[in-house]
Amino acid sequence: MRDNRTGQEYDVPIVDGTIKAADVGKIRTDEENPGLAVYDPGFVNTASCRSSVTYIDGEKGILEYRGYPIEQLAEHSNFLEVAYLLVHGHLPSKAEYDAWEHEITYHTFVHENVKGFMEGFRYDAHPMGILMASVGALSTFYPESRNISDADNRHMQIVRMIAKMPTLGAWAFRNAQGKPYVYPDNELSYTENFLAMLFKMSEKKFEADERLVKALDVLFILHADHEQNCSTNAVRSVGSSQVDPYSAVAAGIGALYGPLHGGANEAVLRMLRRIGSKENIPAFIEGVKNGNERLMGFGHRVYKNFDPRATIIKKACDDVFEVTGVNPLLEIAKELEKIALEDEYFVKRKLYPNVDFYSGLIYEAFQFPPEMFTVLFAIGRTPGWLAQWLELVQDKEQKIARPKQIYTGDRGLDFVPAAERWKQ
Ligand code: CMC
Repeated sequence: MRDNRTGQEYDVPIVDGTIKAADVGKIRTDEENPGLAVYDPGFVNTASCRSSVTYIDGEKGILEYRGYPIEQLAEHSNFLEVAYLLVHGHLPSKAEYDAWEHEITYHTFVHENVKGFMEGFRYDAHPMGILMASVGALSTFYPESRNISDADNRHMQIVRMIAKMPTLGAWAFRNAQGKPYVYPDNELSYTENFLAMLFKMSEKKFEADERLVKALDVLFILHADHEQNCSTNAVRSVGSSQVDPYSAVAAGIGALYGPLHGGANEAVLRMLRRIGSKENIPAFIEGVKNGNERLMGFGHRVYKNFDPRATIIKKACDDVFEVTGVNPLLEIAKELEKIALEDEYFVKRKLYPNVDFYSGLIYEAFQFPPEMFTVLFAIGRTPGWLAQWLELVQDKEQKIARPKQIYTGDRGLDFVPAAERWKQ
């Protein structure tokens, strides 16, 4: 590298297609001034870690968990097995799977006091707010979770969190509906139990249509990890302070809540409803192109060709609608996609449907209100957050996250006490 300011040249090793920011820092004009730094709002071109959890090739539309293509996992695996794969790094043997399933199933209950404080939320509280608060609160129920250097202890918290997330999510939903909370049923599968806690009323045993259970399980798999996205980065950043994993995951839930991240599926549904009919699409598209708003569910920081998850979801739509009947908004979504994919504005910017474009339609077919959509995303993403957190806490190269800034404010002003300032 050649410093244009001084003409001096530096040898900066390139390893794994990256240069070390610390090496760039050695480039300086003199001893007085700080070394060169990179300015990268949104970490668009900055690697923050080494990771062996998830591989994405955005140009080719490839997504792999621990090396396994998402298409194969969605078709042949189930969410608990995928969770095991993400957390442990390999597919489980029969004995490992049985033990994992047993552990997760037997940790789905939460302390009764959790129920107490969930009931304290207002009737219209957003379930993501409730989920974020209650996951954070779990750290107070398991104070030993602070001991993050102990492998068995870490494992215990990972099991607890994957197990309890559906319970908390379902109860947040029941809270909004004013319905009594349903306790977990250990005889049901992970996803079936979640549906039971959401929708069971007075029947003795809750039975869900197998096709719906499978579709929701696939949606969980599709959301299970996505390398260094906004919420995972939040989990890693907060986790780098060595706080307990509940607090780190609560931070991830906060990040996921936002409309540019997990909140997009909720925004898609509201958008489709607002468009109302196919005739209104051209005017809506014009508004997007004029910068009035975004076409929610389109575009991705990494995928610049297609989002493989969107392709799988589109197929899952058909399976679900076979049971529930077609969502009338599907017609609008398909037409919107068609028009956008032919429009130069979207083509030029490589904007394609992402995972959230169709997932909301499926969730609605399950009769979830839009506020619940991001909760479903959070349940699916939990094993990914935890696998990434586990990797972080065992990575000797990691340090507390602490980016630099370019300071643009005043310097060295003289402070005038309020009593004097306000005299004039
Ligand atoms: N509608 C209209 N224009 C868009 C959109 C969109 N959905 N997305 C990006 N653009 C435009 C943007 O205005 C910019 O145009 P220009 O170059 O003229 O300024 C260009 O495309 C590049 O956009 P960007 O904001 O620099 O891209 P980014 O990588 O920072 O943002 C994104 C990625 C996902 C936040 C963005 O595409 C977006 O806001 N999409 C809508 C929200 C959404 O669907 N989010 C879900 C993401 S997938 C699920 C998840 O992982 O959370």
